Amino acid sequence: MEKVGNILTYFKTALANQFDEQEIYSWAYLSINHILGFSKSDCILRRNEPLTEETQNQFLQIVEELKSEKPIQYILRVADFYGLTLKVNENVLIPRPETEELVHWILQNKFASALDIGTGSGCIAISLAKNTAASISAIDVSNKALKVAEENAKSNGVVINFFQKNIFKTTSLEKVDIIVSNPPYVLDEEKSQMQKNVVAFEPHLALFVSNNNPLFFYEKIGQLATKSLNCSGKLFFEINEQYAQEITTLLTDFGFVNIELKKDINDKDRMIKAVWK
Ligand SMILES: C[S@@+](CC[C@H](N)C(=O)[O-])C[C@H]1O[C@@H](n2cnc3c(N)ncnc32)[C@H](O)[C@@H]1O
Repeated sequence: MEKVGNILTYFKTALANQFDEQEIYSWAYLSINHILGFSKSDCILRRNEPLTEETQNQFLQIVEELKSEKPIQYILRVADFYGLTLKVNENVLIPRPETEELVHWILQNKFASALDIGTGSGCIAISLAKNTAASISAIDVSNKALKVAEENAKSNGVVINFFQKNIFKTTSLEKVDIIVSNPPYVLDEEKSQMQKNVVAFEPHLALFVSNNNPLFFYEKIGQLATKSLNCSGKLFFEINEQYAQEITTLLTDFGFVNIELKKDINDKDRMIKAVWK
């Protein structure tokens, strides 16, 4: 792999029997952009430029980590989200495209304040702050996740009020116009059916509910929201489509109105909005 033009071929040869070609090329281009700052067209125009030994080693290392099925975002330690570049590490979930859709939906509303519960990398809170003048707060139980979120807020030039809190040890939250959460909802028993790259690398604190109740977080956050939302305030959740009806019933029983489910790009009910009278 002495020159730029060899990198794609190296990735393809090393990874072809584990992954599909399109995926391999997209990882190769992301890696090239991350290490050399080259765009796709630079890869062609500058294909004869030599690579230093250090750079070659970086690409070799990336390919070795990809072989272990580690997600590219954890290898490069960055993820794109709603037009922003965010740092990620093993303490935060990799932000997902459906969460971008949730942010997009929230941004169709007018609000002066919002609270993100279980902020992780800070992806939701930071993209709301970046695209509105609202005052944004965010909480997470994990200090390690909050450290990443704080760095991301700083690098993206926004101010967010971060708090370390376990919502199950919390009886009240600040008064806000919007509460949003993408909480953990995977049952421990579902671990065996999940993709290896998720279970092996993503933080279990962000994914799993340990007490066998997939609605555990929705119940607690729904209940806190009844006391913390301003009049006509809105609660937004990312959900698993499997629980769409149960969450709708739960929020109706709490007294929320105008409950709306929204499908993601794959035509699955992945978001819910409820209004507090
Ligand atoms: C599914 S992740 C969502 C992360 C980020 N908001 C996103 O959409 O990518 C859930 C987050 O909830 C946090 N969390 C788990 N248990 C919590 C608790 N009891 N109180 C507050 N946050 C909690 C986890 O640390 C994790 O960052």
